[in-house]
Amino acid sequence: MIRIVRRLAVLAAFVVVVCSVGARAQALHDKPGRAAIASAHTLATQAGFEVLEQGGNAFDAAVAVASTLAVVEPQSSGIGGGGLFLLRRASDGMEVMIDARETAPAAVDPKDYLQANGEPDRDHAVNGPLSAAIPGEPAGLAWLAKHYGKLPLSKSLAPAIRIAREGFQPDSRFLGELAMRKEVLSRYPASAALYLPNGEVPKQGWTFKTPDLARVLERIAEQGDAGFYQGEIAKRLVDSVREAGGKWSMEDLAHYQVKERTPLTFDYRGYHIVTAPPPSSGGIALAEMLNILSGYDLNKLDRVRRVHYIVEAMRRAFRDRAEYLGDPDFVKMPVAELTHPLYAAGLRASILPDKATPSDMLPGYMAPSQGTHTSHFSIIDKDGNLLCATQTVNTLFGSTFVVPGTGFVLNNEMDDFALVVGKPNAYGLVGSDNNAPKPGSRPLSSMTPSFVIGTDRIGVIGTPGGSRLITMVLEGILAFIDGELPEQFVGNPRYHHQYLPDVISAEKGAFTPDEVKALEAMGYTVSESERRWGFMNAVSWDRKSGQMHAGSDPRGVSGSGVVK
Ligand code: GLY
Repeated sequence: MIRIVRRLAVLAAFVVVVCSVGARAQALHDKPGRAAIASAHTLATQAGFEVLEQGGNAFDAAVAVASTLAVVEPQSSGIGGGGLFLLRRASDGMEVMIDARETAPAAVDPKDYLQANGEPDRDHAVNGPLSAAIPGEPAGLAWLAKHYGKLPLSKSLAPAIRIAREGFQPDSRFLGELAMRKEVLSRYPASAALYLPNGEVPKQGWTFKTPDLARVLERIAEQGDAGFYQGEIAKRLVDSVREAGGKWSMEDLAHYQVKERTPLTFDYRGYHIVTAPPPSSGGIALAEMLNILSGYDLNKLDRVRRVHYIVEAMRRAFRDRAEYLGDPDFVKMPVAELTHPLYAAGLRASILPDKATPSDMLPGYMAPSQGTHTSHFSIIDKDGNLLCATQTVNTLFGSTFVVPGTGFVLNNEMDDFALVVGKPNAYGLVGSDNNAPKPGSRPLSSMTPSFVIGTDRIGVIGTPGGSRLITMVLEGILAFIDGELPEQFVGNPRYHHQYLPDVISAEKGAFTPDEVKALEAMGYTVSESERRWGFMNAVSWDRKSGQMHAGSDPRGVSGSGVVK
């Protein structure tokens, strides 16, 4: 009898455990019930919520946020540029990346980017119409609305159109970055008229109106992408670009196509990472780095050893970036090999436990980087749809070239190609023939919009930042997996290594003086940067507690992360 009672007790305990595990599983929330948006500007975040309140989903909100950023943060992104939009639909788990990256015009000629003496012509690469590739952003927004949104473009573009027409007061970051590009903006009459009233950078308190951009957005709202890529606006763009020495044609615009790409996915410490495939280099580099790091228990290591392994992973991933990557529609790339755990195991085996690997001991080539432009936003809607977008006009104010009557700058994305093989671009990145410009091809990007999907916690993470963008996303993902919330990790001090120069660059506060000494003793050169970098905007949803979080990088002046 006692035995039977004991068995029943064990059985009861078993049932309690099973039920409580079952109850825990059931306790996971199916839907957030609220939404979270983090973007580079309060007005853009508000625009996203405005569209959600009208019955839109995360993808409609993305159109509203992206187009509003085009108005209020033109130095970073806009309809004269492009972007990568990563989507996860809650109803069926469908994941896709909308590639609205710019393309080279058919008449592209690498000689245009050389001086008479054969040296790179950096001015043509980054300033004026020759630096501008065919924009992808308008087609991306129209595609997003048509295929995944619930609302017409007339609704999702409405906040941007309103703000462009009524105006807003640019923040100190906008004005400071305007000052950095003043000299080049002054070269082009329509650019100067738009951004430099009386030829000067305006003072804080200035109301910036762009009625021309409002009209272009209205045309897109009425006609979809045809409103931009065909007809009057297209003709105006082509005529003006050609008159100023560029090479665009009506066919280049008419033939522009958004591409749907299958995201790159892999697992790390129980989390499923969904990220950007080529033409971004970011996802491949992220997979390489996290695959290498999966061989270490990072949380058991002291800080210096942890930084050592992370930096060695960065070094190796950046070596491969330059060597292999380009536009997947034009070049074959060993993506499966580069992202394979066995490849990472080989790279890991080359890392010494207590010594830096000098970059020149690894075959390949690369060079330095900078960059604080581009814009990233992250959205989770009340149904659990995820949207993560990084969009850009490339460097600050792109080419600075405004076509009269349009109200927006054209990108200078041609500089993301390896215009002169082996010579660095604005980020210090060099590339191989794989990333040389071909008619209609897309330049290699570093943009790395990423989802981090665990059983209980989901994170949506990304940032601008040139080539540092990739390592910032890595550090954000590691912090999220360690349990930090977006509000915390977006502000963490950052460090970066990109193979060459063979230096760890670090923001102030990333390392203590003792940590710097310990890293130097292992053979590293640590260079503390005066500037801070990046503008991370991340959101998360904890399916166990139901809590949502939104964090906007404190480095951005008007960034805004909101849950409601
Ligand atoms: N234009 C910056 C990037 O795509 O990486």
